[in-house]
Amino acid sequence: MIQDVSPAKGLQGSVKLPADKSISHRSVMFAALHEGTSTIGNFSEAADPHSTIDCFRKLGVTIRELHDDDHTIEVEGVGRDGLQTPTEDLDCGNSGTTMRLLSGIIAGAGVPARLTGDESLSSRTMKRIIDPLMEMGADIGARENDFAPLTIRRQGPLKPLHFPLPIPSAQLKSCVLLAGLFGDEETKVIETLPSRDHTERLLQLPITENGNKKVISSSLDANIPEQSYRVPNDFSAAAFWLVAGAIHPHAEITLKNVGMNPTRTGALDMLQKMGAEIDIHPKENDELEPVADLIVRSSELQAIDITEEIVPNCIDEIPILAIAMLFAHGTSRISGAEELRHKETDRLAALADMLSKAGADFTEYDDGFEIRGNPGFRPKPAAFESYHDHRIAMSAAVLSVMARDVSQVVDAECTAISYPSFWDDLASMTN
Ligand code: S3P
Repeated sequence: MIQDVSPAKGLQGSVKLPADKSISHRSVMFAALHEGTSTIGNFSEAADPHSTIDCFRKLGVTIRELHDDDHTIEVEGVGRDGLQTPTEDLDCGNSGTTMRLLSGIIAGAGVPARLTGDESLSSRTMKRIIDPLMEMGADIGARENDFAPLTIRRQGPLKPLHFPLPIPSAQLKSCVLLAGLFGDEETKVIETLPSRDHTERLLQLPITENGNKKVISSSLDANIPEQSYRVPNDFSAAAFWLVAGAIHPHAEITLKNVGMNPTRTGALDMLQKMGAEIDIHPKENDELEPVADLIVRSSELQAIDITEEIVPNCIDEIPILAIAMLFAHGTSRISGAEELRHKETDRLAALADMLSKAGADFTEYDDGFEIRGNPGFRPKPAAFESYHDHRIAMSAAVLSVMARDVSQVVDAECTAISYPSFWDDLASMTN
């Protein structure tokens, strides 16, 4: 689908954001491993978390979608011993989180399975999870020793692993911890640069802090708690509106019940440092994840540097932060973001293509960008390629709203991976 996007005279209103994708995935996985039923409210309607549901159904877990107003699902947990050997491939679709976390569970449980993915997922490296899981005793076959399909089995005992994270990846951290849940002895993951911590929070895993190091442990001793809660709305989806509201000269956008886990909100900190006017109204909440309502207004932005240690806390928001930088006074820099080349597409290359079509003044580096911004920048209208990547498509949409004339976003349906109502929300905001 090619989506036309017109320049917007104003952006006003309140958006019904999608539920958090990272938490939705984990809620199903952890509820499946809990012994007993969990009821999860505000479960994501997006494609990726439904890939996780489909995989767990194939592993013999009963999951009911109630189709009520709150998108509730019920998961009849089978416990650590209850997963059944699937008779079909586990299709992870476009979802790296499904494939990497599920691999940890499959290896730990010792249930033989074959994990497949779409073209994009099949071209993303799995070496980072294959190596530690093999050290833990799993037997893993992969195309060219690196890529999906992955065939996972384990014949010998599960070995505990002490694993200093070689890259600050929450998917890798979670994969190893989930395999560790099945071991008699403790597996320990040592983290120096913090990445999103939903796994350790929702599983309430033991954590010790040692200087700038965080050591997270998992073993058979860890009780897997019931996962009955409401999933907060997705900060990563909110980020598109935070930037749109800040850069547009006539904007006021309200975002409700946004997940405010501090390991996710690096982009909010960056935007505030740039001078974005964002009101934060924290909500009373007894769940494990903090939530707030946010209001963003038209702002005058200044340039900023995003460096390696901040990247994990805004890894998914870097494309939209790059758009914000185009409209700021001065030269902004993004460095230490090489990991973006290994997402649903090479996001640095996709961004470079978008920025050059829009006539932006920038330089691309191996690990980021230098972007010479200007509040008066008016992007050239163009047909922007999404490269089938939801976050690239939504970044192109925000850029197009600021353009001189109608632009197009190519393969725009990919927004359904994380944000199925994105195009409707954009239309309602610009009316
Ligand atoms: C995710 C972790 C991040 C992020 C992805 C979701 C998760 O990936 O980019 O969208 O839910 O754990 P990495 O941990 O590989 O950086």
